[in-house]
Amino acid sequence: MTEPDPRTVLITGSAGAVGRACAETFLQQGWRVMLTDLDPPSAALAGRPDAAFAAADVTDRKAVDAAYAAAVARFGRIDAAVLAAGVEGPVGPVEGISEADIDRVLAVNLKGCLFWMQACLRDMKPRGSGAIVALSSISGVVGSASVGAYTISKHAVIGLVRAAALEAGRDGVRVNAICPGPIDSDMMRRLDKALSARDPLRAGGQADSSKGLPMQRYVTAAEVAGMAAFLCGGAAAGCNGGTYMVDGGFTAR
Ligand SMILES: NC(=O)c1ccc[n+]([C@@H]2O[C@H](COP(=O)([O-])OP(=O)(O)OC[C@H]3O[C@@H](n4cnc5c(N)ncnc54)[C@H](O)[C@@H]3O)[C@@H](O)[C@H]2O)c1
Repeated sequence: MTEPDPRTVLITGSAGAVGRACAETFLQQGWRVMLTDLDPPSAALAGRPDAAFAAADVTDRKAVDAAYAAAVARFGRIDAAVLAAGVEGPVGPVEGISEADIDRVLAVNLKGCLFWMQACLRDMKPRGSGAIVALSSISGVVGSASVGAYTISKHAVIGLVRAAALEAGRDGVRVNAICPGPIDSDMMRRLDKALSARDPLRAGGQADSSKGLPMQRYVTAAEVAGMAAFLCGGAAAGCNGGTYMVDGGFTAR
């Protein structure tokens, strides 16, 4: 199928490290970008004719549907979506996860992803084309100590991606997950600080968890965005239902 030109990608969590990097990468590749988050984009992005923003809380299904409709009204059609909104949740042992904590983390990381995916699938499946990429994590593939709620939510995102991919493949819609390792980002620095305070010996006694990774450095948000752009593009036409690691070798052990 010939791809429309220009193509439009919807990016959730667009004010975050991965969302911002995705906006930059997709714009560089000639896409139009529909941004959505609780927080607005930078002035530079907000002023571009090929970018637009709609505020939406991913836990609010009506707000998500309204933002999706706004995106279609603005750009005509949505060809791809990168679902990057997320929260890390509390740090501590599984037995200490409160009901409020698990509800909150699942509401943002899992239900938020589900609501946006549903809006995309309802539009893309009847049309017969589309690509959806959900941000999971290495914590969606292996366990991560002291972030149980986050680990649960990111495993669940992979389940959601797999179920949706099985259903949507025949309709020309591809659904994949990206599983980044620790990214050079505010989220990771917050986690490193909290995790090291709990366990000073983690990562060989280094407060910086990147030192425990085979590549000895954090993954960059731009590297994650590059994978997202690949999965949304025609070169990934055969990729559906996959979990794509961008983890510097973390899960190769
Ligand atoms: N940073 C990492 O090291 C890392 C590693 C693996 C996976 N991930 C995942 O990648 C994704 C992006 O991470 P990031 O580093 O950009 O995080 P970030 O904290 O920089 O950005 C997350 C964004 O999500 C938005 N958000 C949170 N709750 C929301 C809600 N209820 N409604 C709408 N938007 C909401 C925030 O406003 C923020 O802009 C997340 O799903 C995260 O779990 C991150």
